[in-house]
Amino acid sequence: MTGKPFTILGIETSCDETAAAVVRGTAPGPGEILSNIVFSQIEAHAPYGGVVPEIASRAHLEILDDIIQRALDEAKVPVGDLDGIAATAGPGLIGGVMVGLTTGKALALGAGKPLIAVNHLMGHALTARLTHGVAFPYLLLLVSGGHCQLLGVGGPNDFRLYGSTIDDAVGEAFDKTAKILGLPYPGGPAVEKAAKMGNSRAYDLPRPLLNRRDESRADFSFSGLKTAVRQLAQQEISVEDACASFQAAVIDILRDRTQIAMNLFRRDFPGASTFVVAGGVAANQAIGTALAGLCKEEGFVTRIPPPRLCTDNAAMIAWAGVEQLTDHAAGDALSVSPRARWPLATGSI
Ligand code: KG4
Ligand code: ZN
Repeated sequence: MTGKPFTILGIETSCDETAAAVVRGTAPGPGEILSNIVFSQIEAHAPYGGVVPEIASRAHLEILDDIIQRALDEAKVPVGDLDGIAATAGPGLIGGVMVGLTTGKALALGAGKPLIAVNHLMGHALTARLTHGVAFPYLLLLVSGGHCQLLGVGGPNDFRLYGSTIDDAVGEAFDKTAKILGLPYPGGPAVEKAAKMGNSRAYDLPRPLLNRRDESRADFSFSGLKTAVRQLAQQEISVEDACASFQAAVIDILRDRTQIAMNLFRRDFPGASTFVVAGGVAANQAIGTALAGLCKEEGFVTRIPPPRLCTDNAAMIAWAGVEQLTDHAAGDALSVSPRARWPLATGSI
C-alpha cells in the first residue's frame, strides 16, 4: 500500500439492499473492511416476485440512518475521523438512490467532509482491488440483476466496452427463470441450488447469438433462453433438470463471449492477463468454475471477490470512494443529482 490510507463511509441504496460500510485503504488495494452492514429487503419484496420500487425507497428511508450508525459503531470510527463519504448516485431505482445520496450529502455537509458520488457499477467493477489488490488493466465481466457487460478496465475512470446484453441482464434471466419454475425470489441462488441436483443435458436449450459469432463484439442475448424455459415449463418437467440445463446454457454463452472479449482486451492491453468477474451473478460457483477453466486455457488469471462482496454492498461503494480520492477525481458532489441510468463506458446500455 502506498500513501496515507483513506477512511471512507460507503452508502448503498440503489436496489433492494440498504447498506453502509467503513473501508480503509489506498489504491491499488487491498483495503481493510472495518464494517460492512447489509440489510436485505428480500422479505418485503418476495411476495411480489421482484423488487417493488415504492416499497424499496420507503424501506431505505426507514432504516438507513440506523444502518449507517451501526456501520460507524462497528468500525469504531466517529464521523469526524472519516476522510470522506461515498454514496451511490446511480444507476438504480431513482427513489432509493435519492434516499442514499441525500443522506450522504447531509452527513458530509454537517461534518465538513467531502462527498463522493459513486457509480454503482464502478463499485462492482473495482471490488477485486479492494479484495485482492488487482492491478490495472484487467478484463471485467460485470454480471448483475440489471447489467451484463464485458469491459476492459484501464484505470479507475477508464472503462472500454467490448460487449453488453441486447435484451435481458443475466441476473434478470436467472430471476425470471426462477419465477417461471416456481422458485423463490431472488432467483439466482435458488436456481443454482436446484441445478446442483439436476442433469444439465436433460433439456436442449438455445444459446442465443452463439451461432452468429462476430469477433469484433462480445454482445449477449438472454431473452430467447428465457422464452425457451417458459415453453419448456408448459410440459411435465423436472425443475432441477430445467435449472441445470438453463445454467449450462448461461455458462456456454458467458464462456463464448468472454473468449471473444479476451482477444479484444489483448489488442488494447498487450501482455495483460487478469480476468475479474463481479456483480451478483459472480456469486454463482458453477459459473466461476467454468470461467476459471476458460482462463486456464487462455493464459489468464481469474479473480472473483467472495460472494458477499459480489452481491450489492456498501464496502464496494466506500472502496470506489477510496479510488476516487487516490485518483484526485472526486469533484463537487454536493451538486450531483441522482441518476436512474449511468453507463460506465460510452456506448453501453
Ligand atoms: O449485483 P446485485 O446484487 O444487484 C444488482 O446490482 O443488480 O445482483 C443481483 C442479481 C440478481 O439477479 C440475483 O438473482 C443474482 O444477482 N444472483 C445470482 C446468484 N446470487 C445472486 N445469480 C446466479 N447465481 C447466484 N448464486
Ligand atoms: Zn449491483
